[in-house]
Amino acid sequence: MKLLFERSRTGRAMNLLPDCDVPEVSFDESLLRSSAPRLPELSEVDLDRHYTALSKETYGVNSGFYPLGSCTMKYNPRVNEAMASLPGFTELHPLQDPATTQGALELLHTAGKYICEITGMDDMTFQPAAGAHGEYTGLLLIRRYHQLRGDLEKRTKILVPDSAHGTNPASAVMAGFTVVSVPSNAEGGVDLDALRAAAGEDTAGLMLTNPNTLGLFDPNILEITKIVHEAGGLCYYDGANLNAVMGHARPGDMGFDCVHVNLHKTFSTPHGGGGPGSGPVGCKAFLSDYLPSPQVREDNGVYSLYDPSESVGKVRSFQGNFLVVVRAMTYLFSLGGEGLTEASSTAVLNANYMMHRLSKSYEIAYPGICMHEFVMDLKKLKDETGISAMDVAKRLLDFGIHPPTMYFPLIVHEALMLEPTETESRETLDDACDLFLEIAKEARENPEILHSAPNTRTVGRPDEVSAARNPILRYPFE
Ligand SMILES: Cc1ncc(COP(=O)(O)O)c(C=O)c1O
Repeated sequence: MKLLFERSRTGRAMNLLPDCDVPEVSFDESLLRSSAPRLPELSEVDLDRHYTALSKETYGVNSGFYPLGSCTMKYNPRVNEAMASLPGFTELHPLQDPATTQGALELLHTAGKYICEITGMDDMTFQPAAGAHGEYTGLLLIRRYHQLRGDLEKRTKILVPDSAHGTNPASAVMAGFTVVSVPSNAEGGVDLDALRAAAGEDTAGLMLTNPNTLGLFDPNILEITKIVHEAGGLCYYDGANLNAVMGHARPGDMGFDCVHVNLHKTFSTPHGGGGPGSGPVGCKAFLSDYLPSPQVREDNGVYSLYDPSESVGKVRSFQGNFLVVVRAMTYLFSLGGEGLTEASSTAVLNANYMMHRLSKSYEIAYPGICMHEFVMDLKKLKDETGISAMDVAKRLLDFGIHPPTMYFPLIVHEALMLEPTETESRETLDDACDLFLEIAKEARENPEILHSAPNTRTVGRPDEVSAARNPILRYPFE
């Protein structure tokens, strides 16, 4: 595909702007650039076709099945967008007098109350702009707790099971802690003996991803939080996988002190390309005074902003990505308590249905009942046919579906991780299963077609490491 600069022709500009009808202002020479910027010159139709072509090369949840494990790519209802486009929301300014933004403050306050009810927490901040940002914020609360007790010098370690999401150890390091990895047991849960051995006077807390990245709910969860609390640490729940449990079980009832959830996963808001997401953090009342400022409070039907007394400060400007909260709130109102509970049940049912069908041709890393996602281990297939998880994922592109997550979690070496979500129909799941089974057959009968896949896409197998580390973001002009 040609780039805009390659399509550009001198003088082919669009005259979209009216003639200037205000006096021209002369700036000091030193403030002016020496030459005009080299912008592409195109007609409107060329520009339109360029972006339309680009959009057709892009695959989204609106295009088709997107079973990207760990990402909960559920459908984002249109009504969320309609609500988030209302001028009463879009035309607000965060510095307006709260007397004029009562509706927005009420929305934030109500969303906080609802998600606290769903997670079993007492208070909530919407400032964090993503899940990992929420983890970091939650760890700042834990840090503040130990600091104010004069314990921070001693409590420097965060325990992180090896089945945690990769952002957990990264966030712990960002928040100034040292990470202690806790191994999994044979069933994929936390090894309790290893946890007991690791927990001690230097423990600041534990971060538990539950269900974990194997799609498993840890059956020892109450024992896990007990061990950490008895050692004097706090318990952080990575609730990004809440889509598996909402309406059924609450982190607050399992002994967790704080939690983040991903609105862009569980609550049907768009993921975006790196944002704007929202990773609100909920906490028990004893951590409320440390929440980022400002917080919203309600007094006799009047909403106002206040700074918590021992706040960790701001982790983002104002109230975070407010319009994402509007979308999530729309989802909460649309489904109600029963609908949310049913969404989780269906997400778990769909994952188990797919896992069962695919287990005919693929090994399941940890067989048994899974939660909202499951991991296939393609090591045996690779040993027998030379076909890797990457080959299978690339072949799926030829059939127009998005591949599952590859090579994650790290504890399964030839991993494909599938999360169908509750918004997919039985027919979509069956079509996808038929495809996977067909590809497993191809691996034995016609492996060449898998080695060269994708055979129908503009870009085949880019060098992803170079693309990520040395992105070419500027047009060279020569
Ligand atoms: C379990 C888990 N924790 C944390 C995160 C991080 O969330 P984000 O990508 O919004 O930073 C994710 C992302 O999908 C996740 O699946």
